[in-house]
Amino acid sequence: MTAPEFTTLVADDWRDYALLDSGAGRKLERVGPYTFVRPEPLALWAPRTDESDWAHADAVFSANAVGDDDDAAGRWRTTRALPESWPMQWDGLTFHARTTPFRHLAVFPEHSVHWRFAAARANANGETLNLFGYTGLASLACARAGGRVTHVDASKRAIAFARENQAAAGLDAAPIRWIVDDAHAFVKREIRRGRRYQGVILDPPKYGRGPKGETWRIEEKLSELLSDCAALLDHGGADRFLILTVYAVRLTPLALAQTAQAAMPLPGQWTFGEMALPHANDDRLLPTAIFARWSSR
Ligand SMILES: C[S@@+](CC[C@H](N)C(=O)[O-])C[C@H]1O[C@@H](n2cnc3c(N)ncnc32)[C@H](O)[C@@H]1O
Repeated sequence: MTAPEFTTLVADDWRDYALLDSGAGRKLERVGPYTFVRPEPLALWAPRTDESDWAHADAVFSANAVGDDDDAAGRWRTTRALPESWPMQWDGLTFHARTTPFRHLAVFPEHSVHWRFAAARANANGETLNLFGYTGLASLACARAGGRVTHVDASKRAIAFARENQAAAGLDAAPIRWIVDDAHAFVKREIRRGRRYQGVILDPPKYGRGPKGETWRIEEKLSELLSDCAALLDHGGADRFLILTVYAVRLTPLALAQTAQAAMPLPGQWTFGEMALPHANDDRLLPTAIFARWSSR
């Protein structure tokens, strides 16, 4: 067996976001006009900027429990009043960031590498399925490129945020179906209905629930979900693709590569590896997630 090569995809195409520093289990970021300190368990190294830069951040998140989960609850301590949400841009696409009761800020900047890849393939002849779609930025990038999109998330609130982003981006008239459903149940239904997609994007959490209480556990269900996604992509259409990202589980790029290839035996090209954010002031990279990407050519 040939060992796969792993690629590091670096999201270095942001103006409104910057990773200013990381170290000692934390990261310091600029998100729009505001600066934030958040826990970062992978930053085992020493920080490089002055402690005073960290101390002047506009908001600091403290998690209730130690861990590496972006969905972990905790609380924000702010040093100045922040608006409920604020506009940001990526590649001319306007959307809103916000503090959430969890560690994240309703934008996952490392994903821009995948928005670009999906948008380069999306076109009016095909439809992209964005599962676990949350902020909708992948959906909006594909729609802006002219593609049709079906966006699925179990949370009504998440869909509401995504639709606010759609309005902010000026894409209200774009052909996007917004669906509140369990991702896997929806995929199975689409297979029964004989539907096919040009692209599938999935960013599943470790653990989640569908709107009817359906349980999602990545370790138990990922392989079956990928096989079902393969069925949606198993046709002769041009420029088909799948983008899978995984955060904070005990899974390596090699384990993900083998799972994905076994579950999706479609002819085409695979790329596997890690996603990373560049530091604004030095050449370090912060690892964020692992990914598997397939394209039909
Ligand atoms: C990590 S976020 C995805 C972030 C997304 N990549 C983005 O850029 O906005 C995971 C999303 O999965 C949703 N979710 C959790 N369990 C689900 C399920 N069983 N079916 C569909 N969506 C689910 C959550 O509501 C959440 O919005």
